[in-house]
Amino acid sequence: MKKYKIAIIKGDGIGPEIVDEAIKVLDAVSYACGFTLEYEDYLMGGIAIDVTGVPLPDETVSGVLNSDACLFGAIGGEKWDTLARELRPETGLLKFREAMGVYANLRPAIIYDELVNASTLKPEVIEGVDIMVVRELIGGIYFGQPRANDGQKAYNTMVYTKDEIIRISKQAFELAMKRDRRVCSVDKANVLEVSQLWRDTVEEVAKDYPEVELSHMYVDNAAMQLVRNPKQFDVILTGNIFGDILSDTASMVVGSIGLLPSASTGDKTAIYEPIHGSAPDIAGQGIANPIATIESAGMMLKYSLGESEAATMIDSAIKKALKEGYRTKDIAAYDAKHVVTTAEMGDVIANFINK
Ligand code: IPM
Ligand code: MG
Repeated sequence: MKKYKIAIIKGDGIGPEIVDEAIKVLDAVSYACGFTLEYEDYLMGGIAIDVTGVPLPDETVSGVLNSDACLFGAIGGEKWDTLARELRPETGLLKFREAMGVYANLRPAIIYDELVNASTLKPEVIEGVDIMVVRELIGGIYFGQPRANDGQKAYNTMVYTKDEIIRISKQAFELAMKRDRRVCSVDKANVLEVSQLWRDTVEEVAKDYPEVELSHMYVDNAAMQLVRNPKQFDVILTGNIFGDILSDTASMVVGSIGLLPSASTGDKTAIYEPIHGSAPDIAGQGIANPIATIESAGMMLKYSLGESEAATMIDSAIKKALKEGYRTKDIAAYDAKHVVTTAEMGDVIANFINK
């Protein structure tokens, strides 16, 4: 039987609750498809600070490097917000992404037919939306040096090298080839030098993909277009901070931030995580939506383990659960037949796989 080593990082807030449900579903699907998943837990974020004094223990880095893939929940919370920046949960996450070399963050935003009414946007605007945000993840203003804050003056540096832009652009064009063959590159080239280099470089890479239609959009316009007419987008290619913002917008297009999965891939172990945060305000109440994390587990099966059939089974089970009216609280306002807890949603999806 095939065996895979999966690193599990539950993190803080709702992290443990949603990851537990994804594991439940992974167990069901691995059993059904005849492969074994061996899980190993690692610490990161606030819990790592509490237990080890640092947000990203060395053990986590080496353990994940030795795994076939990493499933991650979420980190952060008020409790750790006043720590020095170096010690904050978010710094741990950024260092982790850097250590894994995961430069390409894929954030699909696909509307489930069953949930067209769950979005705050009109059904006719969002029906059929299928967007892939390709966000550069280990560069840009998140990582640029110098950076400082002396209490009177603070600054960060937005920097991209040509090589960094080339490698993320290639990912976007390769993905577009398997989709609708359209790439919209988002930047702020009317103001920023770094965006001008971004735009020029994307143009160069595009020459190797003559079948893909390339367009450019300024980020402010892109934010507007995403809610005005999201169906115009296929692949959105963008840098770290613009991708962070636009993917949250995309999540509301599809109805809830609890629905959007992501894959962070690069040269080493890939990380699979929901795009949402640790939501400390609802932690422990059993109301978090586990679907984004379960979908992330599906992406892990497909992209890192090559178990596409298992990934499809997860997808179908989620659709079936939604079709039969199972809803967590965040999406309960419309078409709900059964309003369920986090764990019940996991059970329902796992059971549909077993059938
Ligand atoms: C995300 C999150 C992170 C980011 C935070 C928690 C550092 O918002 O994954 O989108 O900004 O990348
Ligand atoms: Mg974000």
